Amino acid sequence: MLETALVSRPMPTTGALVVLAGHGGALSEAAARLDRQTGGLVARLLAAEPGGGKHGRVLHLPYPAGTDLDALVVLVAGKAEPLSGLDLEELGGTLVERLRQLRLREAVVASSAGLDLGHAPAEVAARLAHGGSLRGYAFDKYKSTSPDDDDTVRLARLELLVDEPGNPLATRLAALGEAVRAARDLMNEPANVLTPRAFADACQGLAELGVEVEILDPGEMARLGMRAVLAVGQGSAEPSYVVVMRWKGAEAEQPLALVGKGVCFDSGGISIKPAGGMEDMKFDMGGAAAVYGAIRALASRKAAVDVVGVVGLTENMVSGNAQRPGDVIRSMAGITIEVVNTDAEGRLVLADLLWYTKERFKPSAMIDLATLTGACVVALGHENAGLFANDEELAARLTAAGEAVGETVWRLPLGKGYAKHIKSDIADIKNVGRAREAGASAGAVFLERFVGEVPWAHLDIAGTAWSSRDLPLSPKGGTAFGLRLLERLVADHYEVPSGA
Ligand code: BES
Ligand code: MN
Ligand code: ZN
Repeated sequence: MLETALVSRPMPTTGALVVLAGHGGALSEAAARLDRQTGGLVARLLAAEPGGGKHGRVLHLPYPAGTDLDALVVLVAGKAEPLSGLDLEELGGTLVERLRQLRLREAVVASSAGLDLGHAPAEVAARLAHGGSLRGYAFDKYKSTSPDDDDTVRLARLELLVDEPGNPLATRLAALGEAVRAARDLMNEPANVLTPRAFADACQGLAELGVEVEILDPGEMARLGMRAVLAVGQGSAEPSYVVVMRWKGAEAEQPLALVGKGVCFDSGGISIKPAGGMEDMKFDMGGAAAVYGAIRALASRKAAVDVVGVVGLTENMVSGNAQRPGDVIRSMAGITIEVVNTDAEGRLVLADLLWYTKERFKPSAMIDLATLTGACVVALGHENAGLFANDEELAARLTAAGEAVGETVWRLPLGKGYAKHIKSDIADIKNVGRAREAGASAGAVFLERFVGEVPWAHLDIAGTAWSSRDLPLSPKGGTAFGLRLLERLVADHYEVPSGA
């Protein structure tokens, strides 16, 4: 696992050093100093590049003459237009990936001072470090490697030189990065290890940060009438849990509520899935992982917000106790559901969670995240999550927050037309729509039945929670998609400004 750190100390003269260059061959003070020391090697390296170096290029000079360095790396950070915070984070990710390919064990990034990137050097360093740590995440606990196997040369540490290591942005991003790593760990963990109970225990761990954690066990869930969640889990040997996490960092009349689908394994149940790719269904708890991580990030940095996270943790399995296609269940809301397909289990879990959250907490807004439908992946691929909302302001805020952090969402429709798709002959609604027609919207209108008048949004993250290829800010595997979006949304709109 890569460790990143902001440190205040003089520029090192040995080891691997990264200096920044900008648009059109501009040099940071550190790059200019190295250029003089090496008799102009930095400038020559950049001159050999089209346009003096394109944004995101990483140039490498081993054992540069005139220095005691092992490697001089020039990171080109410059576009004609101003760089966004996300650009800088992705640049940090690019740098880490290249340093890894160069098989460097550690490197130090010099300050960007002297280069006009539109952001103070401390912010540049904090964002490069954050992006680097997100990209440098690894889930390798089950790999046994021998120390002399040269595949084990890993980028272990990246230091970024700054004047003030403890600046507020750095602190916020460090908390966020740590929460993303924890959420990805939950996603990558196999389902024999990350049982619903194990996930609930991880949530309990947030109590150390001052989060109020309440674990509802199957007995308590039955007393409350959460029959839909229990029906999904009834075929599993593992008990189901609902966990309520509240971070009360401010006094608010109504909290913001985050709700997550936490199906720790989705075999499909009696409507069983095909074998090919079924192993990926350990990530069907990605919504719950994002909620867990958002609460963790907000609590770690003591965000001034009242936020409640509710996750439904269960496993959709096949057994003599499993629910059958055609079963009818009475949800906590009293709405009866015909279970036509046991593989449409996420909406059953969320039905009770949304109703419970709305009734108990009367939230100002409620946002659910769920790996809900394959249809959403067909519609949007892996580029955007599906956004459904009954409230324009909430939809706009989520869209903007997603844009800012690179977790983009695209609005898809709700509406009466789709509500017809889930009419049942024998119950109030059924859990599937019409074959091959607007499956993501059918799932969303199903959920809408359980949210009443609360401003609500649903993010279908089926296509974005997991990646089969490396992304700028995430190696392949669990991405924790939605976590950084939620943290940004809270910071922009739900945090009471300090001192107010
Ligand atoms: N967890 C799946 C959806 C999913 C598919 C997530 C692919 C990530 C990648 C969900 O529980 C499911 O099985 N949905 C069914 C619903 C259908 C039976 C109405 C689907 O999408 O096929
Ligand atoms: Mn399913
Ligand atoms: Zn599922």
